[in-house]
Amino acid sequence: MSTRAPATAAAASDVPFLWGVSTSSYQIEGAAFEDGKGPSIWDTYSHQPGRIVDNDTGDVACDHYHRYAEDVALMKALGVGAYRFSVAWPRVQPKGRGAVNEAGLAFYDRLIDALLEAGIEPWLCLYHWDLPQALGDLGGWANRDCAFWFADYAALIARRTGDRVKRFATFNESSVFTLFGFVMGGQAPGIADRNMFHRAIHHVNLAHGGAIDVLRALVKDASLGIVHNVQPCRAATPTPEDVKAAALFDAYWNGAFADPQLLGHYPALIADLMEPWIAAGDIARICRPIDWFGLNHYSPLYMRASDDNPIGVGWGAAPDSVPRTSFGWPIEPDGFRDTLIDLSKRYRLPIYVLENGRSNPDVVDDKGEVNDPDRIAFLDAYIGAMNEARAAGADVRGYFVWSLLDNFEWSSGYSQRFGIVHVDYATGKRIPKASYRWYADLIRGTASPSAAMR
Ligand code: FCB
Repeated sequence: MSTRAPATAAAASDVPFLWGVSTSSYQIEGAAFEDGKGPSIWDTYSHQPGRIVDNDTGDVACDHYHRYAEDVALMKALGVGAYRFSVAWPRVQPKGRGAVNEAGLAFYDRLIDALLEAGIEPWLCLYHWDLPQALGDLGGWANRDCAFWFADYAALIARRTGDRVKRFATFNESSVFTLFGFVMGGQAPGIADRNMFHRAIHHVNLAHGGAIDVLRALVKDASLGIVHNVQPCRAATPTPEDVKAAALFDAYWNGAFADPQLLGHYPALIADLMEPWIAAGDIARICRPIDWFGLNHYSPLYMRASDDNPIGVGWGAAPDSVPRTSFGWPIEPDGFRDTLIDLSKRYRLPIYVLENGRSNPDVVDDKGEVNDPDRIAFLDAYIGAMNEARAAGADVRGYFVWSLLDNFEWSSGYSQRFGIVHVDYATGKRIPKASYRWYADLIRGTASPSAAMR
């Protein structure tokens, strides 16, 4: 890892900086079939044998649905100013359209009220991948109508929560759930079809634009954005095939959503592929003004040409010299700094980092404590890199750690722990880790072990 000043909470400008934590519905809530919730495509997918490590499911997860008050208390003690969570669409609208589930809405009311009571700003994400299965049965995002069902769902949430919630994100990581769900494998709905993939991209973009219009119309003083996962895409080797594959992947991963939403066009490399699905007026429907850019960032991607899937791009390896997390994800804070600087210039929006963190094979020691120095070193390096980007002029307004809790890490199930709070999945018991205390110190501006060295 490069040498850089340790992380501090000090702002590079006078804009007040927002510290937060993030989670998502399917990864923490549990109560998957309780109080009238309908099944999502992730309920279906995780129950298919062999899809998830150890055949884990989100049926119980962190049981946040019942333990939310304890989790809000943990956030209050941590000192965060904001909490980003997602609403499970099938919890509030079991079939994705039509009938509303009052018990599901009441859960989010309780959560939002508890957050406000604790002085924590709710950041509500409408979609973190748990599409109602009933809509999945109709083709899901490959069906153009899904964009309009999503706008209706956005209206439901806006009307119900807009008196208390002002920060809304439409989607989390559209590139990830469409790439993995429709061509590369590893995520719901588990399809491999290039045409469906391209349709899904376009329909998610339409859904975003439609939802922004709805939220703007229904929520007074709304502050709206979307969360993109932007990672530099590098060729795993210098061969022309791998260089070409990495460029195509960059267009899908980094450009297929943000470019039409914010610049009004698809990236040149995929424009022809998208053309058949674009109807008159669509780009204007997609490219709506938003207030901020939400960034999730973990590590650069190393790609190679591959015949394994319909887009011809597969995963390569980072150079041996690059350190990696236990998950195998490269640790390159310089890539984070450069991404922030590039994004700030490209889209000219305030940026909130809405996910960053690492997994670790954390264990509870004899004293009942969880020490995770590797996570502290990671956060320290990445927050330091972010501060360098800010000093270089990037307009970064907030940083949210992924994640508050250890949780269901998609196809890796419970094998990867990303939390700053340890969760014993058998009992639900929470134990704040050393990184939780480090982050609390950082937020309060008191000396953290490394910040004190400054
Ligand atoms: C992101 C997802 C989030 C979590 C982290 C580790 O891609 O948005 O749900 O799984 O990765």
